[in-house]
Amino acid sequence: MDREVAAVIQQQMTENFGNASSIHSYGRSAKVVLEESRETIARFIGAETSEIFFTSGGTEADNHALIGTALAKRRSTGKDHILVSSIEHHAVLDCTEYLASLGFHVTHIPVGRNGFILPASVEELITEKTSIISVMHANNETGALQPVREISQITKDRNITFHSDTVQTIGKIPVNVGDIGIDLLAISAHKIYGPKGIGAIYIRKGTDLDPLLHGGSQERKNRPGTENVPLIAGFAKAVEIAGRTMEKTAADAAMFRKELLNLINANCPGIICNSNTEQSIPHILSVSLDPTHYNIESETLLMGMDLRGVAVSSGSACTSGSVQSSHVLMAMGYDKHTAQSTVRFSFGKFTTIQEVVTAGNIFCSIVLAFEK
Ligand SMILES: Cc1ncc(COP(=O)(O)O)c(C=O)c1O
Repeated sequence: MDREVAAVIQQQMTENFGNASSIHSYGRSAKVVLEESRETIARFIGAETSEIFFTSGGTEADNHALIGTALAKRRSTGKDHILVSSIEHHAVLDCTEYLASLGFHVTHIPVGRNGFILPASVEELITEKTSIISVMHANNETGALQPVREISQITKDRNITFHSDTVQTIGKIPVNVGDIGIDLLAISAHKIYGPKGIGAIYIRKGTDLDPLLHGGSQERKNRPGTENVPLIAGFAKAVEIAGRTMEKTAADAAMFRKELLNLINANCPGIICNSNTEQSIPHILSVSLDPTHYNIESETLLMGMDLRGVAVSSGSACTSGSVQSSHVLMAMGYDKHTAQSTVRFSFGKFTTIQEVVTAGNIFCSIVLAFEK
């Protein structure tokens, strides 16, 4: 977390502890911070203040978008078909699985080998029953930036709600809801040096969706529950800092990615780059090891790198003791072995070029020891 953000949270926790729904002065003081924070976040993405609702993070915002819209539109229009890309985060995919269990029809939009969704594929899959389309702005494993503006155009005049999970892009690259034509989007504070457990959903004025929670009248009944003003203030601070720094952070990340990829390619044969460096967010580099060349799976590589002080992610997840291949890489047509020999590097604003070179050298020394 950015230290400036942590300082704001601490100050709010200790000095501005009122409940924003209370009408006494402590409450009113918290309410001022709540509304100023909402305004900061709204302005940052070109939204109106009344279109931002705080949530517990990206997962909740995605759930609210998908479940809230599916239920409301089935009731009001009888539409029960959901189109979702096959490379979404589980916060979206598992939601649609749940909706399928409630009788909704879910279709997955295919993705090409390069990790991109084609607007034409989306158009082909629309039926007169389609109520919502969900395509993420940038994929969290490969970084691939999806053609969300073109997809949003397709939804216009069809009474289809367009949701985009923008957790990986807001605060990293410019995002404007008007330019893209989004109806619903999800944001998470911890991706931009803010606190964990706080985020927001943008709901375009007039969008038909149910709340997930029922209780008090906070967030104009769209998300009842006492607002976590300290985390919200920290979230707004993180957004404000991102506004000032993201251009430089993105340029640095692009340079780090290029250097790292060059270093790896110069030292290790048989490396497959899964991140398109032209059309992606710059802070992610995903590489796979050709399984005909190396005899090492990403879990072993990850542990080896961790022991040497480098934190990276794999393209797989350990579920109930067995390694599951990444659904993103599998959707892109990778075989199981290649998908399970994948490592994702991410660069942040505190990363230095020396750290990138060190990480690259450690990566190469480990994988070369497992060359066939
Ligand atoms: C693309 C994407 N969507 C949603 C989420 C979930 O956000 P949160 O951790 O705030 O619930 C993440 C987190 O990694 C993500 O990368």
